[in-house]
Amino acid sequence: MALFGKTKTDAEISDLILPRHVGIIMDGNGRWAKKRGLPRKAGHTEGARTFRKITRYCSEIGIQYLTVYAFSTENWRRPEDEVGALMKLFKSYLEEAISDFKDDDIVVRFIGDKNGFSPELRALMEENEACSRDRTGMVLNIAMNYGSRDEIVRAVKSIAADVRDGKLSDADITERLVSDRLYTAGQPDPDLIIRPSGEYRISNFMLWQSAYTEFVIMNKLWPDFRKSDLDEALRIYSQRNRRYGGV
Ligand code: FPP
Repeated sequence: MALFGKTKTDAEISDLILPRHVGIIMDGNGRWAKKRGLPRKAGHTEGARTFRKITRYCSEIGIQYLTVYAFSTENWRRPEDEVGALMKLFKSYLEEAISDFKDDDIVVRFIGDKNGFSPELRALMEENEACSRDRTGMVLNIAMNYGSRDEIVRAVKSIAADVRDGKLSDADITERLVSDRLYTAGQPDPDLIIRPSGEYRISNFMLWQSAYTEFVIMNKLWPDFRKSDLDEALRIYSQRNRRYGGV
């Protein structure tokens, strides 16, 4: 297994301060395809392969939470055939995940508004959540039809409704309460967010949760992203000095 190009041993893993929660903005599929003269959807197909590999690897090395950005609330603006190709990819992954990955110890969760998807896809998402719920391994959050501003607006509305109904008072509104109304309620904030493809943007991903997250930008397009690139991001992370606003 590739950890800095060497064989992974427990000693090497324990040398690193591993993040509990890793977020990945899976970017660069379109450029990967363009470079090869292929349609954008070919980049997404290859990106889906990378997603499977990196997810398994994260679970093997002991990451506790992995959140991947698969489809944003803004991605519906893409051409119809590209959106259609992405929906097909999601469907085949979700079908496969139920039958082929049943021995994996990964808890699958979706963050985002499921109502944006077809009833068939929604049912598959719910089935994946239900059949993995009792597992004890890594939690995989797949962000689909996810936008962090939308997530925050939903949290604000749910708190406002509780204040209106007399269930909460102004004094009850704390950072903790807001966190508990997000899709990621009960989970630790991401320690590390990796963005491949060299873009320096957050793109509406986990805005509230990333207040003190470490960012690692990598110059690799997502379909080219390898386990060794994850190792490199973990190495960079483990050398960061996190101060959370202190000294
Ligand atoms: C961004 O690259 C990528 C996406 C909008 C889609 C990400 C989806 C996958 C990797 C598919 C696999 C996911 C699952 C859950 C099976 P881009 O198209 O914006 O690339 P560009 O910036 O080079 O155009």
